Amino acid sequence: MSEGPLRHAKHVFRVVILLFVVVAAMVLGRGFFVPDSWGEYGWYRADAVADHRAPLARHAGDAACGECHDVQPERHVAGSHRNVKCELCHSVLSDHVVDGEVVAEMPVPESVELCSRCHRALNARPARFPQVNLKQHLAEFEVDLESDVCVACHDPHSPADL
Ligand code: HEC
Ligand code: HEC
Ligand code: HEC
Ligand code: HEC
Repeated sequence: MSEGPLRHAKHVFRVVILLFVVVAAMVLGRGFFVPDSWGEYGWYRADAVADHRAPLARHAGDAACGECHDVQPERHVAGSHRNVKCELCHSVLSDHVVDGEVVAEMPVPESVELCSRCHRALNARPARFPQVNLKQHLAEFEVDLESDVCVACHDPHSPADL
């Protein structure tokens, strides 16, 4: 090849081979990186829909608790806390039960902070909402402010029953 019209063509062959390698790498790489379900419904990954549906539902609502507990739900639906969800005071169902099996203990929040979050007397609360000045309320009964003092008198599941 040192003589004749093709004597300089080896530069071109090198470029062509390089181009071929790059194209082959792209085709191969695409096979690796493009998800299987790409293009099933259009220009996105169709499996994304299933992925978004898959995460465990964390909240379940009061009825879910009623499948295993009966005392508290019965009192709860009849009492003034009927609109305060079980999971709001305790924790979400998935911290306690997954696939119908108990996986961990549910927190039992006895502290004054829980009740005062909603019932501490504040000017900003609507006047018709039941609220108490904690110190005065406890002084009325001559009891000290201890962490579980509110539930010593009020049933949290039906707090107007003492
Ligand atoms: C699949 C059945 C099941 C479901 C559903 C369930 N629990 Fe439980 N729960 C249990 C069992 C079993 C225990 C342990 C029994 C015991 O020690 O009293 C328990 C214990 C508890 C306790 C602790 C009791 C204690 O004295 O320490 C609380 C609080 C509780 N559950 C609240 C809830 C709430 C709120 C929900 C709904 C979000 C709920 N549970 C849903 C089965 C269930
Ligand atoms: C306003 C907050 C609040 C709501 C709403 C609430 N709980 Fe409770 N729950 C508590 C507190 C506080 C205790 C601890 C009571 C105690 O120590 O006397 C408790 C205790 C419990 C216990 C342990 C047994 C007992 O009675 O001491 C279970 C089980 C329970 N709750 C289930 C439920 C379920 C089911 C619901 C919904 C139907 C619910 N709770 C709604 C605050 C709440
Ligand atoms: C998430 C907010 C919330 C939390 C936390 C909460 N409550 Fe309540 N509570 C309410 C609501 C809402 C009502 C119903 C108010 C109404 O009927 O207008 C209520 C009603 C009451 C009542 C009845 C008042 C009446 O005049 O009928 C008492 C007593 C009470 N709660 C005490 C407690 C105690 C004790 C705790 C702590 C264990 C607590 N609450 C935690 C929201 C809450
Ligand atoms: C020694 C018992 C006792 C303790 C402890 C106690 N309460 Fe009460 N609470 C009562 C009684 C009785 C009533 C109803 C009569 C009244 O309003 O004084 C009441 C009423 C309430 C009301 C309704 C007020 C209204 O305007 O309708 C709320 C809210 C309340 N308590 C929250 C709490 C909170 C929060 C705690 C904890 C800091 C607590 N209570 C501790 C006995 C108690």
